Amino acid sequence: MAEPALENLYREGRAFPPPAEFVADALVNDEAVYSQAEKDPEAWWASHAERLRWMRKWDTVLEWAPPHARWFLGGQLNVSDNCLDRHVDSGHGDQVAYHWEGEPGDARSLTYAELRDEVCRFANALRELGVAKGDRVNIYLPMIPELPVAMLACARIGAIHSVVFAGFSSQSLVDRITDADSKVVITADGAYRKGSVVPLKENADKAMEATDNVSICIVVRRTGEDVAMTDGRDHWYHDVVEGRSTECAPEPMDAEDVLYILYTSGTTGTPKGIVHTTGGYLTQVSATHRLVFDLKPDRDVYWCAADIGWVTGHSYIVYGPLANRATSVLYEGAPDHPARDRFWEVVEKYGVTILYTAPTAIRAFMKWGPELPAGHDLSTLRLLGSVGEPINPEAWMWYAEHIGGGRCPVVDTWWQTETGAIMITPLPGVTAAKPGSAMRAFPGVKAVVVDEGGEPVPPGGGGYLTLQRPYPSMLRTLWGDDQRYRDTYWSRFGDDVYFAGDGAKLDEDGHIWLLGRIDDVMNVSGHRISTTEVESALVDHPKVAEAAVTGRRDDLTGQAIVAYVSLKGDLEGDDALARELREHVADRIGKLARPANVLFTEDLPKTRSGKIMRRLLKDIAEGRELGDVTTLANADIVSAIQASAGDSAKEE
Ligand code: WT7
Repeated sequence: MAEPALENLYREGRAFPPPAEFVADALVNDEAVYSQAEKDPEAWWASHAERLRWMRKWDTVLEWAPPHARWFLGGQLNVSDNCLDRHVDSGHGDQVAYHWEGEPGDARSLTYAELRDEVCRFANALRELGVAKGDRVNIYLPMIPELPVAMLACARIGAIHSVVFAGFSSQSLVDRITDADSKVVITADGAYRKGSVVPLKENADKAMEATDNVSICIVVRRTGEDVAMTDGRDHWYHDVVEGRSTECAPEPMDAEDVLYILYTSGTTGTPKGIVHTTGGYLTQVSATHRLVFDLKPDRDVYWCAADIGWVTGHSYIVYGPLANRATSVLYEGAPDHPARDRFWEVVEKYGVTILYTAPTAIRAFMKWGPELPAGHDLSTLRLLGSVGEPINPEAWMWYAEHIGGGRCPVVDTWWQTETGAIMITPLPGVTAAKPGSAMRAFPGVKAVVVDEGGEPVPPGGGGYLTLQRPYPSMLRTLWGDDQRYRDTYWSRFGDDVYFAGDGAKLDEDGHIWLLGRIDDVMNVSGHRISTTEVESALVDHPKVAEAAVTGRRDDLTGQAIVAYVSLKGDLEGDDALARELREHVADRIGKLARPANVLFTEDLPKTRSGKIMRRLLKDIAEGRELGDVTTLANADIVSAIQASAGDSAKEE
């Protein structure tokens, strides 16, 4: 199956185009798409907005008062109307919106008409319970159809959803409920996770007890666990939708009304509530989904194998694909349960044509060997996507060869929770692809790699990735903290230059290669976790005096979390305590934040002003030679830490 031709092109460092028949057939197959968008970016984005159904057309495309942009002013629309009714009205009610595949192997397909009806029923139920336009609703659900249904029901009545990844702990839910002052929680009795059941309702109960906010909790029955239901507050989902009308007039929303909040890690312990609005967001997620994946709604079966708890799922499982009338696979489980070929079984079962997944998954597939995909018929695949972290050329090549059979274009797509939609990516049919490079900005987007002083670097140079022009899906602010919005993104190079927090380089052809985050945010399996967030969780343990956390390179997960911990008084660290601390972090934040290594140390390397030298700890964690340590107040601690790094307590 290996295609030596691809391998050679890669070895020679040459770009290669997608197959000729693909180019001929692609939605855009002409370089002119870039120059046209560049000539008039506002007209370009407006042409995509016009594909949506507006209740009232906009008066002004863009108002840019740095660092605040407003798009499609005066326009009114409803996202759920665009994702559902529009397609039913155009005669596509019988088309499948989601082929849902449950972890235990149960399955259910929902057509656009069925999804619309279910959303209306639940939207009516929410209204009946007193949920109104502008209210915040926390959604804490596994990957079951009720998750997109709940999001779309909120969108239908103008409530603002804040989805909390079902793998997060109750403490994370508390933080998000309080920050957004939300009075509704939608959850399930439990969630399947590789054969066991996560007690979601129990977690939600703990969170609701810890705050006074929540007066309405709706519980979906998924696993059938016995759960406690609090009278007056808790309602079963199946009870509240029972007998409800399938008609529910969509709330007319201003283009700039908030669609959702999604929390993401920043460099401090408190997560940031990223705010996305209605018109611009839907415009860019649908435009990018259509063009980057070259979507043909009548023939494609599209699968984005992310979790809706992250922005990838919001934009490319729910809003983009539904706005484009895609038929999607919605998969509840993990890639390796019950067996390591589960993904390929799903691709074969539904005849998936477009697959969008993360480098960390691809590297796991590589490790498990090419025999697993080779044991399935993957010939329906015609396009592959990657997202979440830099993809190493080896993984890119393996994906192209062993999954794509050497015939599928691969699109490496760079974007962020903040950008809401894809920003840097090849366009299949137009842009050449180099393994490991996200290539170039999407048409209309202005991505510039700059040096310390904010000057663009020439081809061959490296520096910081910035975005220097507003785009429709950009975050508008941070929920309740506009100052932090300015400080975090718009202060480093001026208030009209967005600083993404990523390092990047340009190759000799001017193509963009992302290098990962340059601040104190780690990227573990494509998920952003801040070092301070994990540090606060550790210090919160009664035995911990101080903690410093850093990411080290990991072949599988991109980065792995290393925690340096000094204990209170004369306490001594051992394996049992290391395990306890790992669990403690999992409890406070979620399993994905559990450190891979816990190293106990007398003290942490600090500068004379008391600042922990994280860079040094990272060098130690990655086994690099250390640079200058003379600015340290306690230089000898470094050799002690290095010595103990060898016999660190490592997770299984
Ligand atoms: C950070 C954003 C985009 C949805 C999932 C993550 C890294 C993302 C790529 C890519 C290199 C990437 C960046 C970015 N990242 N995609 N294709 N190549 N790096 O969303 O949690 O907001 O994280 O993920 O470092 O800043 P997020």
